[in-house]
Amino acid sequence: GQPAGQQQTGRTAAYDSAFLRACRREPVPHTPVWFMRQAGRSLPEYRKVREGIPMLESCMRPELVTEITLQPVRRHGVDAAIFYSDIVVPLKAIGIDLDIKPGVGPVVAEPVRTRADLDRLRPLDASDVSYVTEAVGMLTAELGTTPLIGFAGAPFTLASYLIEGGPSRTYENTKAMMYGDPELWADLVDRLAGITAAFLDVQIAAGASAVQLFDSWAGALAPAEYRKYVMPASAKVFDAVAHHGVPRIHFGVGTGELLGLMGEAGADVVGVDWRVPLDEAARRVGPGRALQGNLDPAVLFAGHKAVELKAREVLDAASGLEGHVFNLGHGVMPNTNPDALTRLVEYVHGQTAR
Ligand code: CP3
Repeated sequence: GQPAGQQQTGRTAAYDSAFLRACRREPVPHTPVWFMRQAGRSLPEYRKVREGIPMLESCMRPELVTEITLQPVRRHGVDAAIFYSDIVVPLKAIGIDLDIKPGVGPVVAEPVRTRADLDRLRPLDASDVSYVTEAVGMLTAELGTTPLIGFAGAPFTLASYLIEGGPSRTYENTKAMMYGDPELWADLVDRLAGITAAFLDVQIAAGASAVQLFDSWAGALAPAEYRKYVMPASAKVFDAVAHHGVPRIHFGVGTGELLGLMGEAGADVVGVDWRVPLDEAARRVGPGRALQGNLDPAVLFAGHKAVELKAREVLDAASGLEGHVFNLGHGVMPNTNPDALTRLVEYVHGQTAR
């Protein structure tokens, strides 16, 4: 049922939106669409308001966060907003010395490698991220019936940045800890699970209608290792927020072999990248969960005819699903023409209007 109470205003207004209905596997007026990284560098209006403001600082200014989150909703008519922030914001908020370098990603000054380093990962308190509570409140008031998706980085993906000290292709230090010191690894991802759950809790308590857990780099693992070393921590996150009753989305890149486990971890909706067709993904995930995806973001560079063709293929593969949220298979790339995204939203809505 619908949650009640003063802070539930945004959630109540959005309850019957196509996006939340699809997450709950209920009939929808049209297939809902949103895009990972819909707020960001593909939009000139984003580049303009971000001028001269470092990425992490921009996440701490509620008015700016509200404006940037709303930009793609206004421009594209997407069915959901995603909160403008970053997966490393809660780590910064507990005092980890890190920055987001343009064109690179998160860079951690002192990587976490030893048991002594764990002491730097103290629990996150809502008061550490009061700017998030404030921004979510402003946003849900502005959004009306459009749902707001809160998000966080999953323990494995956050651990990979902390241990490697930045982006990685091989995750050699991460895997060295995982295989070489499984107890230290388990303690690290358990701490991160607590921080992640607290960060999601703040967003839901302030009015977010759904949450997405980004385990972007979990595809680096085989299923047996995922199950043993990662799934317990991600499951802890999902369990911790279950009582709120908002849909929980779980996404990673290159996770075709992990889709079943990512559902089992406690997701209501499983995000799929472009490598696995949605009908096959549904077989891997099994009944009882909706799917989100999965147009190759590179298709947006191929012209509208190709976009329509490939989007139609996604819709066809999803036609037998109980719940489908249309999205890209990963984030919008910075050089994407925003008009291609607007036309894609119109196309999906037009094709699926019931
Ligand atoms: O629109 C949205 O999706 C909401 C905002 C959002 C950002 N980061 C803003 C951002 C979300 C959901 C994220 C999540 C995130 N951050 C993930 C998981 C999603 C994924 O893509 O797999 C990851 C792995 C990160 C870490 C991170 N932060 C990366 C890899 C980068 C890109 C670095 C670069 O410059 O290419 C960032 C920076 C970042 N986060 C930007 C934005 C808009 C770009 C920074 C800028 O505009 O200067």
